[in-house]
Amino acid sequence: MQKADALYNQITQRKSVRQYKMDALDAETLQKIDQFIQQLVPMDSEIEVTFTRTPYEAMGKLFSIKAPYYMTVASEPTGNYLENAGFMLQQLDLFLPTLGLGGCWVGMAKPSKSVGFNKSHEFIIAYAFGTPEIFEPRTSVTQFSRFPLNKIHKGEQYSELIELARLAPSATNSQPWLYVDAEESIHIYRIRQNIFKGLIFERLNRIDVGIGLFHLYIAALVKGFTPSFTIVETPEIKDYQYVMTIKFN
Ligand SMILES: Cc1cc2nc3c(=O)[nH]c(=O)nc-3n(C[C@H](O)[C@H](O)[C@H](O)COP(=O)(O)O)c2cc1C
Repeated sequence: MQKADALYNQITQRKSVRQYKMDALDAETLQKIDQFIQQLVPMDSEIEVTFTRTPYEAMGKLFSIKAPYYMTVASEPTGNYLENAGFMLQQLDLFLPTLGLGGCWVGMAKPSKSVGFNKSHEFIIAYAFGTPEIFEPRTSVTQFSRFPLNKIHKGEQYSELIELARLAPSATNSQPWLYVDAEESIHIYRIRQNIFKGLIFERLNRIDVGIGLFHLYIAALVKGFTPSFTIVETPEIKDYQYVMTIKFN
């Protein structure tokens, strides 16, 4: 994993940026970003994903934040592809502040028709980025508005890791995840939405879970584990549905 420590360090500092200088980034910075994107680590390497650096002018204006650039994501719609997209793009969210830049996931924004995706791919999500009007990383975990650990974690063993997943961003800050300690592993569940909320939130919540899982993954790596993902038989938990398990052996 490239720059694991640098990405890990951003977990406790990052925050969404919604106001940008509209100046273009210099060629060297854009090259660093493009190179970083080429080396993103997937959760599931069988799923084909494409990332397109998209100028603001090529974004549909409905729901978009005014930012000089977007990263738009398209994927083969198969398996845990929404979780995989969240997992991959969160790497950019943690990388940008290391360059003094900022970004924000934008759940409803879409590129205009002129941005062509592979025909077998589905547009997943857009992410705005650029130079923040004010670069203001967080300086304390207390500045994160998040649920307490005991609302999203069952168990004692992996609290230190799950604390870092707790800080992950999510659409409307919904934090739809539940982490359940198991033997050398953690089961991940997602909140079950009712049918109406599900229409809007199901897709976004699956992306959110992937984002949280990237925080968990990088925290595990930095703390010396060898994390991998699997699906196993798990107990049912009321109001939640099982997504997958992260293993540490
Ligand atoms: C999948 C996803 C979609 C989001 N969509 C939007 C959006 O459309 N507009 C917006 O201003 N913020 C959006 N956000 C940002 C969240 O509101 C933000 O991450 C959350 O409130 C936590 O704040 P923080 O990122 O500053 O820690 C989105 C975040 C995620 C993960």
